[in-house]
Formats: sequence, C-alpha cells, structure tokens
Amino acid sequence: MASTSMLSCFFLLFFLPLTAAHTASSSTWVKAGYYNSASEISASDIKSTLFTHLLCAFSFINWTNYNIFINASELHKFSAFTQTVKSQNPTVSTLLSIWAGGRDNTFLFSMLNQSSHRKSFIHSSITTARSHGFQGIDLIGASPVPASELADFGKLLEEWRAAITSEARNSSKPELLLVMAGYYLRASDSTSYPFDSMQRNLDWVHFLAYDYYVPTKNNITGFHAALYGPTNWDNTDSGIKEWRRRGFSSNKLVIGLPYHGYAWTLVNQGENCIAAPASGPATTRDGSMGYKFIKSFLRSFGNNGVVSRFNNNFVVDEFTVAATVWVDFDDVDSIRAKVSYAKEKGLLGYNVFQLANDDNWVLSKAGEFNYQKTLLKIGL
Ligand SMILES: *[C@@H]1O[C@H](CO)[C@@H](O)[C@H](O)[C@H]1NC(C)=O
Ligand SMILES: *[C@@H]1O[C@H](CO)[C@@H](O)[C@H](O)[C@H]1NC(C)=O
Ligand SMILES: *[C@@H]1O[C@H](CO)[C@@H](O)[C@H](O)[C@H]1NC(C)=O
Ligand SMILES: *[C@@H]1O[C@H](CO)[C@@H](O)[C@H](O)[C@H]1NC(C)=O
Ligand SMILES: *[C@@H]1O[C@H](CO)[C@@H](O)[C@H](O)[C@H]1NC(C)=O
Repeated sequence: MASTSMLSCFFLLFFLPLTAAHTASSSTWVKAGYYNSASEISASDIKSTLFTHLLCAFSFINWTNYNIFINASELHKFSAFTQTVKSQNPTVSTLLSIWAGGRDNTFLFSMLNQSSHRKSFIHSSITTARSHGFQGIDLIGASPVPASELADFGKLLEEWRAAITSEARNSSKPELLLVMAGYYLRASDSTSYPFDSMQRNLDWVHFLAYDYYVPTKNNITGFHAALYGPTNWDNTDSGIKEWRRRGFSSNKLVIGLPYHGYAWTLVNQGENCIAAPASGPATTRDGSMGYKFIKSFLRSFGNNGVVSRFNNNFVVDEFTVAATVWVDFDDVDSIRAKVSYAKEKGLLGYNVFQLANDDNWVLSKAGEFNYQKTLLKIGL
C-alpha cells in the first residue's frame, strides 16, 4: 500500500510538469469573462466565484518595437487585478489580454512576417504577463488573414508556445495559459486562421459569437448574436461548423457570450422582424447597449407595454419601442440556451464579453446555474 502511493507520488512528480498546463485545462469546463479596465466597475466588484478564468483587457502592441504596453492611467488596475479577484476566489486563473489591432491587419502582418519582430513580441508578452502576476496570455482582435500570411501566423503560435514552455521550465513556475479570440468565417471567405497551429499550441480559442449585424454597418436589421438562423444569415451554429470544417475541433472551442445588444432605427414604423429596413443606430452612438442599460431602459418603458420576448428560433431576445426602435440582445434565457448548446456540442466552455455590462450578475449566474444542474444530473 505504502509503496503503491509512493510510486504514484513518484510518477506524479515526474510526469505532471511534462504534461503541462495546456492539457490540464482542456479537461475543465471554462467559465471565462473579460474585464475591461476602462469600464465603470473595478476588479473588486467582480463576482469571481462565478468564473474559472478572468481576462484583464486591454494591453496594446507598440508597432514600433513590438513590445506590449499598458496605458499609464490603467497600469495600477492591471498590477492589482490578480490579487484582487483571487481574494474572493483563489482558484480563478487570470489572463492578460492583448489587443491585436482589429479589422486592419497591416500592423499585425508586419509583426508576423519577421522573426525578430515575433521574438520581441513573444518575449515582451511573457515578461509583461509575469511582472503583473497573470497566469496566462490572450490575443484578441486578430482578423482572419489571407492565405499568404497563414504560415507566419501559425509560426507565431508555435514559437509563442515554445517560449512559454521554456520560460516555465526556467522559472519553475506553472506554464502560462495561451489563448486567442477569432472572428466568424463564412464558407466563401478566402481569409482564415492557422487552425492546425491553433489546435496544437493554444489552450483554447474564443469564438467571437456576436456583432454579426450591427446598425452602423447594416442597412437592414439582423440579429447580432443569433445561435441559429436560415442559410445566408450569419449565426453561431453555422460559424462553429465552418471553423470545424476548416480543421478546428470543438474540445478547444470556447463560445463567446455577449452582455450587450444593439438598438436600430427602423425606416418603416412597426416593421420589426429581421431584414427590416434600418437607417442606423438608435439610443447610443453606435447603437450598442450593455445588458444593465437595456434592463433599465426596459423598466423606464414598463408602463407603456414595452416587453422583450425570447425568440426561440434564433435564440435571441428582442423588443420594439414606439414602433421605431428595435433592440436585439441576450437575456437570461438566451444565455442559458447558449451555455446548453456549448455543453451539448462538447465545447470547452464560454467566455463573456464583458463583465461590467451584467446586471447584478444575473447573466453570469445563468451560466453557472446550468453548470450546477448538469453536475447534479451526472451525479457529481
Ligand atoms: C490606451 O491607449 C490606446 C493607444 O494609445 C488607446 O487607443 C486607448 O483608447 C487607451 N485606453 C485607455 C483605457 O486609456
Ligand atoms: C513605442 O516604442 C518606441 C520605440 O522604442 C518608443 O519611442 C515609444 O515611446 C513607444 N510607445 C509606447 C506607447 O510605449
Ligand atoms: C511584412 O508585412 C508588412 C505589412 O503588410 C509589409 O509592409 C512588409 O513589407 C512585410 N515584410 C516582409 C519582410 O515581408
Ligand atoms: C530558458 O533557458 C535557456 C537556457 O538558459 C535559454 O536558452 C532560453 O532562452 C530560456 N527561455 C526563456 C523563455 O527565457
Ligand atoms: C444597403 O446595403 C447594400 C449592401 O451593403 C446596398 O447594396 C444597398 O444599396 C443598400 N441600400 C440602401 C437603401 O442604402
């Protein structure tokens, strides 16, 4: 008996470090969320017991020397983040989120296509994450790239993982997590991501399952985060199928959950299904509204019979105000349905964007609720 346990100790000591953190995390249900340091809540407001991973956003890339920087005004929030959220939940893991530049990839290419630039970036990302106590790194805002850039993008992830593994060995610290976020792809898109390298080198990839149709870009209404939809309408289920078709498997895929919706100005009064002519955003500059704001907006119209309804076909919530403003968003029922979808399809978990928009943690608890029910069902 004693020798058996000593033997297993021996094996644990020797093989645990070699199997590395990125395989360990694959077996956990990921409940992640973005904290934007510029938002109105502070890290101590985050109910971190509802999450397994929290991402602190955004740090940026200096496109002159490819080093990571954090705005001076935000720096103290980043350095205190890990300790603050862990005081409520010591098991939560924290990640430093790096903004890759968004829809225009020119800067990103200039980093990807030169070995010395990639090296500076990788080194700086690891040093910055460690110096502020983060346990992982996230890259968000990298658009799909043309075929000519795929190999370099893949190389970046390969080198990044190698450096992270090497740094963990040198420092005797647990290996940093490495994750990224990716956008929706249509079957017809010639741009793509280096899915094979992503599969091998990242702990997970966050599928940005929102902002498909927005009032600043589209002149007919569309659901920005529908789970399902007819052919030719972007929706999360078809987006995930497309990623899978291009070689990315579900077990490292984390579904994005939006804590925001959009307000559209309707051209024709009362015409409020999808594909109704729209003349731009309503209520805010780009029409985007955080969940908390949407709920208070709804309450302010409560006496005038404005009620939101759950659209079961698309898995979204929607309402119309005065026949001229149409809002689509995710309420508790949509969030729950998406979390169930993630479970059923064998995805790795979910990632919320963004925490400050929740209303008294109602949406965050919706994901948690489902999780506990599932655990009960399987007898844990
Ligand atoms: C930080 O700096 C970047 C780049 O200069 C800027 O785009 C961003 O708005 C700043 N963010 C905050 C929160 O100050
Ligand atoms: C970016 O790097 C250049 C060159 O090292 C430096 O002069 C500049 O101050 C850096 N910018 C920021 C925002 O860190
Ligand atoms: C790298 O990409 C940038 C931006 O697209 C381009 O200007 C530059 O010429 C490329 N460099 C190499 C070595 O290919
Ligand atoms: C780890 O140490 C080796 C040997 O000293 C060195 O070559 C390597 O660059 C180090 N890795 C990192 C990421 O610092
Ligand atoms: C709406 O946008 C489509 C394509 O983006 C364009 O072809 C069409 O002319 C636009 N319609 C109006 C009324 O602006």
